[in-house]
Amino acid sequence: MEAEEPSMSPLNLVQNEPLLRVEHVTLAYKGERGIVRATEGVSFDVHRGDRFVLLGPSGCGKSTLLKAVGGFIAPQAGSLTLAGQAITRPGPDRIVVFQEFDQLPPWKTVRENVMFPMLAGGVKRKEADQRARHWLGKVGLARFVDAYPHTLSGGMKARVAIARALAMQPAILLMDEPFAALDALTRRSMQEALQALWEEIGFTMLFVTHSIEEALVVGNRILLLSPHPGRVRAELNSHQFSLASAGSAEFQAATQRIHDLLFGDVHAPLERALGGTDHAFDHHPNCR
Ligand SMILES: Nc1ncnc2c1ncn2[C@@H]1O[C@H](COP(=O)(O)OP(=O)(O)O)[C@@H](O)[C@H]1O
Ligand SMILES: [Mg+2]
Repeated sequence: MEAEEPSMSPLNLVQNEPLLRVEHVTLAYKGERGIVRATEGVSFDVHRGDRFVLLGPSGCGKSTLLKAVGGFIAPQAGSLTLAGQAITRPGPDRIVVFQEFDQLPPWKTVRENVMFPMLAGGVKRKEADQRARHWLGKVGLARFVDAYPHTLSGGMKARVAIARALAMQPAILLMDEPFAALDALTRRSMQEALQALWEEIGFTMLFVTHSIEEALVVGNRILLLSPHPGRVRAELNSHQFSLASAGSAEFQAATQRIHDLLFGDVHAPLERALGGTDHAFDHHPNCR
């Protein structure tokens, strides 16, 4: 045969690879009283367009995992790769949004805050300015480009932080409990805004939370981590849940099920019960 099947081309093979691959990752801190193990043998794959959530109780190593993906700390064992390349240092392809929005320097306007990392990364001033205005418009802050951070509400600061991250056009957006400090209503409107942005742009996101409800609302896939040190308990699909279904009987059943998986004595075999769809619950290879 002369012509090659398009599906056989190497390009397709690359596309089917996960964007982020975390394999058997153990992370530890050296403390005064010896080594503190934050996670142990954690594996997961994030595909392009995923809203992948790391869910677990406080102290189970979620932030530490995110820092490792960010390239800020190296694993004691295991490997992390982004698009097939080992993660060895921070880079503009991985941008983190933290909970503390007061990291926005107060002497810079909203627009200057969004421009700053682009300028630091070598983007020309004119382009950085255009991109800042564009992304601030996307998060609903077109009227506030010249405002100073102290004049903004918590939710608006969260929007600035998201605009600043997306303006960098990262391969993956890393979010560490970005809405945890917000009141319930603002948190909900931020989850809505994030969902709308994702539907419009389709970015890839790794999102950390200790809220089961938030995990179901935000994520299409959820990795459940056991308490300290964090090990994978289960990985499940949650694309069928959204803000619209929050409060439904199915949503509540899923919340209860996840709660049992996280805090109960439930280990394998795990039921394929969540949400009633056949593929709604996947066993994870390293599920305990
Ligand atoms: N800089 C650090 N030095 C020593 N231990 C740390 C440090 N940061 C976190 N830890 C420990 O690592 C574990 C995981 O922490 P962390 O990743 O922050 O958990 P989470 O984000 O899930 O709440 C905890 O036991 C915590 O006390
Ligand atoms: Mg944390």
